[in-house]
Amino acid sequence: MELPSKIFIDGGDPAETHEADELLKKAGFLTGVTGQTTNPSLIAKRFARESGIMNQESGKPKVSSENLIDYYKKTVQEISRIIPEGAISIQVIGDPATLTTEDMLTQARDRMSWIPNGVVKFPATTAGLAAAEVFCQEGPVNITLTFSQEQAAAVYVATKAHNYDVYVSPFVGRMDDRGENGMDVVANITSMYRYIEVMKRPKVLTASVRTVAHILYALWLKSDVITIPFKLLKQWENEGFPIPPKDFIYDAPGLAEIPYHELSLDVDWHEFDLTHDLTDIGLKKFWEDWKVIIQ
Ligand code: E4P
Repeated sequence: MELPSKIFIDGGDPAETHEADELLKKAGFLTGVTGQTTNPSLIAKRFARESGIMNQESGKPKVSSENLIDYYKKTVQEISRIIPEGAISIQVIGDPATLTTEDMLTQARDRMSWIPNGVVKFPATTAGLAAAEVFCQEGPVNITLTFSQEQAAAVYVATKAHNYDVYVSPFVGRMDDRGENGMDVVANITSMYRYIEVMKRPKVLTASVRTVAHILYALWLKSDVITIPFKLLKQWENEGFPIPPKDFIYDAPGLAEIPYHELSLDVDWHEFDLTHDLTDIGLKKFWEDWKVIIQ
């Protein structure tokens, strides 16, 4: 059976990717795992766990920045061997206060040399989109930490001249966490893109997925991709891999609705309001989780 959305695994553990792929194929989802998303927090935490670094005295240098990047590289290389046809997102990393477009482009070009099936993750900020605007002609990109329809509108315009796949990743769970209906953002973006041919627009990649209901609604909305943590994939399996009926209704009690806005996509992308506090908070947290290992 073919699902309306591609399934990616959200994590940084090659063993999980392998198991997830087998599990989906066994369940009759022919394509299995077709991609992987990673992020600095997931990689840093796994490194800390594996190396026992958490037990070291705090305040001491733990590992060099190069070592941690090398671990990131080896991890995605291993994942790439498991899903050689899959799209594997690798994020640019740095202090959000100082990381420039040029820094991101340098990192992006380096990350693309790690594996043949990499996708570079840039943040949904002005500097990130400026980098993606250039890099989308050199390789696939994924715009991470997306929380608004405006940001997704800017992603479409900024990457219009892409030669490779472009993904936009609305983070639903982090919005739910603070009482806003994150799935509304997915619905709004898919609706905004609905008349644009799939090859000419960013693919909607539903991320920060926390519940089976998120998966079902994302499938119902035909989100191009859903990235699912392994634990949640197991839960979906335990529930018998349900898929949404035609008359599926997503029930999000207590979550504030995020309304749809009519936006013209015929403007310069800089005209869109890219600011979102969750993007800033997310970037800061990614950097903190990374930095704590290398200080
Ligand atoms: C996606 O690319 C991210 O890695 C991920 O979905 C973030 O999810 P979280 O909000 O659970 O950290």
